Amino acid sequence: MKTVTDFQTMKHDNKKISVATCYDYWSARILDDSNIDAVLVGDSAAMVMHGFDTTINAELEMMSYHVAAVKRGLKNKFLIADLPFLAHRKGELYFSEAVDKIMKAGAQAVKLEGAQGNIDLIHNITTAGVPVMGHLGLTPQSVNQFGGFKLQGVNDTAAQQILNDALLLQSAGCFSIVLEMIPAELASKVTNELAIPTIGIGAGINTSGQVLVLQDLLGVSQDFNPKFLRKYLNGYDLIKEAINHYNSDVKENTFPSEKESY
Ligand code: KIV
Repeated sequence: MKTVTDFQTMKHDNKKISVATCYDYWSARILDDSNIDAVLVGDSAAMVMHGFDTTINAELEMMSYHVAAVKRGLKNKFLIADLPFLAHRKGELYFSEAVDKIMKAGAQAVKLEGAQGNIDLIHNITTAGVPVMGHLGLTPQSVNQFGGFKLQGVNDTAAQQILNDALLLQSAGCFSIVLEMIPAELASKVTNELAIPTIGIGAGINTSGQVLVLQDLLGVSQDFNPKFLRKYLNGYDLIKEAINHYNSDVKENTFPSEKESY
């Protein structure tokens, strides 16, 4: 299993880090058997698994439930999990208890969106031994403030803010930072300024690694087609075809066969 120290070495050695999200036991079994470097139980679970419009609906209970399910299928991969919306704004005790719950459900690191107002909290838990992944750029929990899922860091002030925030997160002890939906040039600059690895999504080629939502890379959604996404499977059509094949076998009385009967 690769760990935070391996990710550091990989950045140093110019070796890319691959991360995919996961929310359930059966896909965790497949990811565990794959060559992927790390797995993220993202709060995107609220959208992908529960059909909400944003990640704001991910609750602590929901996150720890998904982490525990993934953990049961994941033996050989480093597991990172998102802290849900406002977990870091409900007081220090609530925050530590949230981290405690997610880690005891099976995560080996937590991810937290944004830097402003979070630095002391991050420092507290990193010095207590919890690896923390930062997240800058399009931080989806702030979608209402951004006015939609839009590219961030496009003007000089916003770009400088992202760079400053990245340096703050690094000094607070983060082992890595997700850079989401920012110009490739900015992501490259941030990556070069940091000693810790950056993991990009919609942030171009020059980050230390990439992360994609598993269902997105498998192409199971027909209506999510952002510019940054590469679909490695036409999952939607292939799954629908298999279901329809099963349906017609049942209707045509060809399933089960004699071999499939007792
Ligand atoms: O919630 C999530 O899945 C994420 C990744 C896309 C980075 O934060």
